[in-house]
Amino acid sequence: MAMKFTKSLCWGLGAAVCIGLFLAGVNRPVSAEALAQTQKQANGQITERYGDTLVVAQKATHQLFSHKKHVIGVGLECDACHPDIFQKKRGAAKAAGDYNMKSLEKGKYCGACHNGDEAFGVTDKKDCITCHGSNMQPPEKIVWKKPNKAVFDHQAHVQDIGLECGDCHDKIFTMKIGAAEAKGDFTMASFKKGRYCGACHNGDDAFDAQSQCDSCHFAPTKKIIFTKPVKTVVFDHKIHVGKAGLLCETCHKEVFVMGSGVLSGLETFRSDDPAAKRKHLEELHEKLCGTCHNSDQAFGFQTRCTVCHIGVKGLKQMKAQAEKGDAAEQGEH
Ligand code: HEC
Ligand code: HEC
Ligand code: HEC
Ligand code: HEC
Ligand code: HEC
Ligand code: HEC
Ligand code: HEC
Ligand code: HEC
Ligand code: HEC
Repeated sequence: MAMKFTKSLCWGLGAAVCIGLFLAGVNRPVSAEALAQTQKQANGQITERYGDTLVVAQKATHQLFSHKKHVIGVGLECDACHPDIFQKKRGAAKAAGDYNMKSLEKGKYCGACHNGDEAFGVTDKKDCITCHGSNMQPPEKIVWKKPNKAVFDHQAHVQDIGLECGDCHDKIFTMKIGAAEAKGDFTMASFKKGRYCGACHNGDDAFDAQSQCDSCHFAPTKKIIFTKPVKTVVFDHKIHVGKAGLLCETCHKEVFVMGSGVLSGLETFRSDDPAAKRKHLEELHEKLCGTCHNSDQAFGFQTRCTVCHIGVKGLKQMKAQAEKGDAAEQGEH
């Protein structure tokens, strides 16, 4: 049985259905097979027929806009929107590059009607949810915990710095906490290539992410204790960052990778040759803490072994002090 279509209607922005039916041709006969095929692809359902006009209902794949609500619900003609406000091509507005709140506020796209006059506007906080299905209120601060703690402040970027939501959403960041992290390349190396925070934090549009680490990261407040390969070397950020006033990048750009636990992964060096052993120790210390602890910038590693290697006894003492509450808490490494 062949069916004829002079007009096809679809709503619910079921894209596949729309494409299917509209491509199937407005005035061309469509075979039952082709129809079945279209339906199958679209996972849609014929709910109504007006003569040879077919109504296909489909679950909205896009929360924002519903043909059904505008055409049937509000009673708008197709030409209220097509082609002046929207092309009959899904994704066309988005592809134009200015499909955002700013242009909506200026009366483009949905904003042609959604101006608080012909239809509810786009600026009132209570209306965001009608289109977006969420109140769209950004969390003031976001803190990523892994692998290091890093913070992002919406309030600072929007209110204080004056960026638009569209400067980041959705081209740089999806509007979902954890989305970037889930992609697996939310790293300093990506930033350096201009992705994520690095899209602006490039030393040009905003301070370079490869500098002033402490703007985004937190220095550990606990003492770090290296337990391998030799027990109980103590390192305290407070002394180095606070008292000695060192920048994070002095250590974390070249000597230590922040948060990697590189040191704790070192293998113990074994050799019966005292010369080889001494050479190894020298090289090891020079490479690490000795980059400063060279009797020049800070006490030399050759001189005061026990200031760093506090030993089991020292650790016990430190723990006892910590329990009394007058020393910093410590973290094992
Ligand atoms: C209130 C505005 C509005 C009205 C009225 C409207 N449309 Fe649309 N239409 C849209 C929007 C928005 C899109 C998506 C455009 C985009 O993504 O750039 C769209 C897309 C389409 C598409 C492309 C779908 C696809 O998947 O590529 C077709 C076809 C279409 N409309 C047909 C119609 C027909 C037929 C009518 C009248 C029965 C109609 N529209 C009425 C707003 C409207
Ligand atoms: C040609 C005018 C026009 C355009 C363009 C238009 N709308 Fe509407 N829309 C209306 C009118 C009129 C109503 C109903 C009046 C009201 O609720 O204020 C409405 C209602 C709505 C509703 C509420 C539907 C309901 O009943 O739940 C949503 C959501 C919506 N529009 C989203 C959009 C989005 C998103 C766009 C752009 C993609 C858009 N509209 C473009 C005129 C328009
Ligand atoms: C400078 C960039 C930037 C700007 C500007 C910005 N955001 Fe975000 N936004 C982010 C980042 C980063 C995330 C987290 C994304 C991730 O973890 O992948 C986020 C997440 C969100 C989330 C998700 C919250 C959640 O609970 O999942 C919402 C909602 C949001 N932003 C809304 C907004 C709104 C509304 C504006 C404008 C008022 C805005 N944002 C401006 C960067 C920005
Ligand atoms: C009439 C419907 C409508 C209303 C009401 C609305 N929006 Fe939007 N919004 C849109 C459309 C359409 C887009 C573009 C979506 C896309 O790119 O697919 C958008 C995009 C956005 C974006 C991402 C791009 C940008 O412009 O920054 C943010 C953030 C946003 N809206 C926030 C809000 C907030 C906050 C409110 C309430 C004050 C709100 N919207 C009210 C329709 C609406
Ligand atoms: C769309 C551009 C843009 C993106 C993307 C962006 N920023 Fe910013 N950010 C700025 C600008 C502009 C400033 C202010 C200028 C400056 O301080 O150099 C700023 C300032 C800051 C500041 C100092 C102000 C404050 O919050 O105390 C921090 C921290 C910061 N950004 C962190 C981040 C992080 C983390 C990300 C990624 C999750 C990010 N930014 C993504 C543009 C951006
Ligand atoms: C503009 C904000 C910002 C600045 C400045 C910044 N970072 Fe990051 N960094 C982040 C964010 C966001 C992440 C991803 C979330 C996380 O891992 O905490 C991250 C992740 C990391 C990671 C783990 C992932 C990776 O890239 O291996 C390291 C290590 C790191 N940063 C080191 C540094 C160092 C060292 C500096 C200073 C030279 C620095 N960061 C400066 C925001 C920043
Ligand atoms: C004098 C050198 C030095 C300075 C300066 C320094 N750090 Fe560290 N940091 C270290 C060492 C050493 C480690 C442990 C490395 C390891 O385990 O391999 C470390 C580890 C970390 C870790 C991971 C902590 C953990 O428990 O895994 C973070 C986060 C960190 N530093 C942030 C910072 C920040 C932020 C600053 C600046 C405010 C800073 N550091 C300044 C030497 C330094
Ligand atoms: C970027 C240079 C730098 C690096 C790298 C560095 N330190 Fe220091 N350190 C200092 C300075 C500066 C002081 C304070 C001056 C002094 O005591 O000689 C200090 C002081 C100390 C102190 C003395 C604290 C006290 O009680 O007064 C200890 C312990 C220490 N560092 C351990 C370490 C360890 C362990 C490492 C390697 C994991 C390390 N430092 C890496 C610069 C550095
Ligand atoms: C500035 C801090 C510091 C000083 C001073 C220091 N060390 Fe170390 N030492 C370390 C760190 C950090 C490691 C590597 C982490 C670990 O072994 O837990 C280390 C490792 C070692 C190791 C193990 C190396 C291996 O591969 O098996 C020995 C043995 C050692 N130190 C001996 C000494 C002796 C002897 C002195 C005094 C002449 C000394 N250290 C002074 C910080 C220091």
